[in-house]
Amino acid sequence: MGIMTRDEDGWCSTQLRKAMKNHNVTPVCFSYYPVIGRVNYTPEASADTIDILKDLDALITRPIGRGSLEEILFRMNLMHKLERSGLLIINPPLAIERSVDKYCSLTLFQENGLPVPRTAVTESHDEALKCFHELGGDVVVKPLFGSRGIGATRINDPDIAARVFRTISFHHGVLYLQEFINHGGSDIRAFVIGDQVVAAMRRIAANWKTNVSLGAKPVPLKLSNELENLAVKAAKVIGCKVTGVDIIEGPQGPVNQAGGDFSLLQKCASPTKSYVT
Ligand SMILES: Nc1ncnc2c1ncn2[C@@H]1O[C@H](COP(=O)(O)OP(=O)(O)O)[C@@H](O)[C@H]1O
Ligand SMILES: [Mg+2]
Repeated sequence: MGIMTRDEDGWCSTQLRKAMKNHNVTPVCFSYYPVIGRVNYTPEASADTIDILKDLDALITRPIGRGSLEEILFRMNLMHKLERSGLLIINPPLAIERSVDKYCSLTLFQENGLPVPRTAVTESHDEALKCFHELGGDVVVKPLFGSRGIGATRINDPDIAARVFRTISFHHGVLYLQEFINHGGSDIRAFVIGDQVVAAMRRIAANWKTNVSLGAKPVPLKLSNELENLAVKAAKVIGCKVTGVDIIEGPQGPVNQAGGDFSLLQKCASPTKSYVT
């Protein structure tokens, strides 16, 4: 089984290799860089001495990585080609494309009836400023392709908003603004495999960003049936076979009017509304 990874000694790849060995599966790690896609001669796809379509039964893709538009499109089209040729790829290339792009995944969630925060996406800093006010003047600005909370910024000052939006659009970034949901300093991460939630945690943070990589404390959690269904549906809509789903809980009702902090205890006692972000 192949593992497409930049760093075979990284934590995730090490765990995957261990798990495979426990199941008598031979892991084969390689990165995108040495891969050759051949057209009209064979092998159609190789990495060093590996004939990807002949030698592998399946391929696990780790993060698609950073790269130029050309590099990323080549990687994705190579994955699509391998999948069309019958190789099992986890997660499937379409799911990777959908999940890596926050606008893409959020629109799919919303079209499929999943609750999502109000969000606006634009290339124009002037239009972004209008949306800032539409969203109640308290927003989270996120990189379209971000992860681990890096670059996500809460803005509730119009002057700072104007300055930040200008800077982002000057550098040809897309402006992704989401209404701030007052979750009180924690959220839920559900780990979904196939159509089952196999584990979940509450991530408790000292501030509004609840990524564990930024220091939030993970606490095991048993999800309600309702939230399990939400997480499984979110994974299904994107097409992920293995995934983590973020669920934030805000106060019931018009969330953009919520203000102030509220404790975890109060949150458990009071009605909440859940959103997939
Ligand atoms: N609309 C929001 N309101 C309040 N907090 C948010 C909102 N969206 C995200 N967050 C917080 O910011 C963190 C990072 O956002 P997320 O959308 O999950 O991006 P990433 O892909 O970088 O993890 C989340 O874990 C959550 O704690
Ligand atoms: Mg997240």
